[in-house]
Amino acid sequence: MAASQKPVPLTAYPAVALRGTTGIPGDKSISHRALILGALSVGETRINGLLEGEDVLATAEAVRMLGADLERRADGEWRIHGVGTGGFTHPGDVIDCGNSGTGVRLLMGAVCTNPITAVFTGDESLRSRPMRRVIEPLSEFGARFISSPDGRLPVTVIGSDAPLPINHRMTTASAQVKSAILLAGLNAPGQTVIVEAHKTRDHSERMLRSFGAGISVEEDGDTRIITLSGFAELEPQHLTVPGDPSSAAFLIATALMVEASAISLTGIGMNPTRVGFLDTIREMGAELDFSNSRLQGGEPVADISVSFSSLRGIEVPPERAPTMIDEYPVLAALAACADGNTVMRGISELRLKESDRIDAMARGLEACGVEIIETDDSLTVHGRGPGSVAGGAVCATRLDHRIAMSFLCLGLAAQSPVSIDDSTAIATSFPNFLPLMHNLGADIRGEPIRG
Ligand code: S3P
Repeated sequence: MAASQKPVPLTAYPAVALRGTTGIPGDKSISHRALILGALSVGETRINGLLEGEDVLATAEAVRMLGADLERRADGEWRIHGVGTGGFTHPGDVIDCGNSGTGVRLLMGAVCTNPITAVFTGDESLRSRPMRRVIEPLSEFGARFISSPDGRLPVTVIGSDAPLPINHRMTTASAQVKSAILLAGLNAPGQTVIVEAHKTRDHSERMLRSFGAGISVEEDGDTRIITLSGFAELEPQHLTVPGDPSSAAFLIATALMVEASAISLTGIGMNPTRVGFLDTIREMGAELDFSNSRLQGGEPVADISVSFSSLRGIEVPPERAPTMIDEYPVLAALAACADGNTVMRGISELRLKESDRIDAMARGLEACGVEIIETDDSLTVHGRGPGSVAGGAVCATRLDHRIAMSFLCLGLAAQSPVSIDDSTAIATSFPNFLPLMHNLGADIRGEPIRG
C-alpha cells in the first residue's frame, strides 16, 4: 500500500454459494520473470495475460528505468524491447518495488552483474524483509551492496564491471534466491552452478530455456544441480502467462468451504512445483476435476472444477512446503472448516513473507473462534467442521494480500461476517479479486463490522 493510501476495510458475509466459470489473472511469478527476461533480450518480446497487479507493475516500471522500452497494448498484452544481457543503464531514480519481494530480489540479481549503480526500496512490509539471503550470494559475483546492518532495504547495488560466475549451494528453499543468482549469472563469464536440496518453483529455468539461454538441470533424488552458461544472448519470445494457481487457491478454498458451491476455473498453471495445495486438499477429501490439460509456453495448464466437499484435517508433509508456500494462509482458513486437526510443519519461511503469516493467521483465526497451536515453524488448526466457524471478527491484514483474501474467504463460510481492516494489499497480486468473487455470487462489502 502506498504511504498516501488510506486503509479500505471490507466485510465478507456468510452463506452465499459460489457458482460459475471464470479465468484467473496471470501468474505473478511468471509475470515478473517475463518482464525481466524480455528486458534482457534484444528485439521485441510479446506477453499476453501479464498480471497487472501492483507488484508486477512495479517490476515493469523498474525495467523501464533500467533502459527497456515497454508498451501496454491492451489488458495484459505487453510488448518489450529489451536492452540485451549486460545492457541495463543507470536508473535515474530510486527503484521502488512496492510490496514485492520477488520483484526486488530478482531485479537485484539481474542488475548486479551490470556495471551500474541502483538503489532499491519498497513499502513498509518489504523494508522489513530479509535481503541478506540474496546479498550474500550476489556479492560473490563481485557486486557490492550497501544496506542497513541487518540487511534490509533500502539497498544500493554497485554492479560488478568484471563479474565472476559462482557455484552456490542453497541453504534456504527459495525460488527467489535461486532466480536472482540465475539472472546474475546471465552476464557473468563461464558457468554459474546452483545446487538445490529442495526443489522450488522452476519458472526461471523453464523460461530461460525458452529464451534460448544455455541451462541444464540434473536431478539426483531431491537434489537438483542447475548449470547456466554465462554471457547468454537471449532471443525475444511470445509468451502467454497461465492463470496463477496461488490466486486460484482462494476460489478453490471458498468453493470447498461454502455449501452448494460449484465452480470451474480455466487456464490455471499446473507446474508440478506449484501444486502442493491441490495435493493437500485432495488428501483432505476435496472433490476436484481436471480437464483440458495442455502446455502453454513451456508451462502445464489445465481447467479445474471444484465443488463443496466435507473435509477432514491432515498432517501436511513438511517437504511439501516449497510447492505450496503461498497457500498456507488460505489452507489455514480452510482447515478451520474441516473436521479434525490440520498440522502444518516446517513452515518457518512463512514468518518472513509480506507479513509473519503464521502469526497473522493464528491471531485472526483465534478471533474467529478457532483454536490453534503455534510454534516457531508450525501451525495446527483445530477444525470446527463445515459451517461451524463462528466468525464475527475484524482481522488485521498487515499489508499482506494473502492474509486479506484468506479472511474474506473464511467470512463467506463462517456463521457471522468477517471483516478485514484493510483490503488495499489485494491489488498487489489479484486486482480483480472483488468483481470476480461478486460474479461468482460472493457477498463482500465495504462496511466493517464492529470487532
Ligand atoms: C516466488 C517464490 C516464493 C513465493 C513468492 C514468489 C517467486 O518465495 O513465496 O510469492 O516468484 O520466485 P521464496 O522463493 O522466497 O520462498
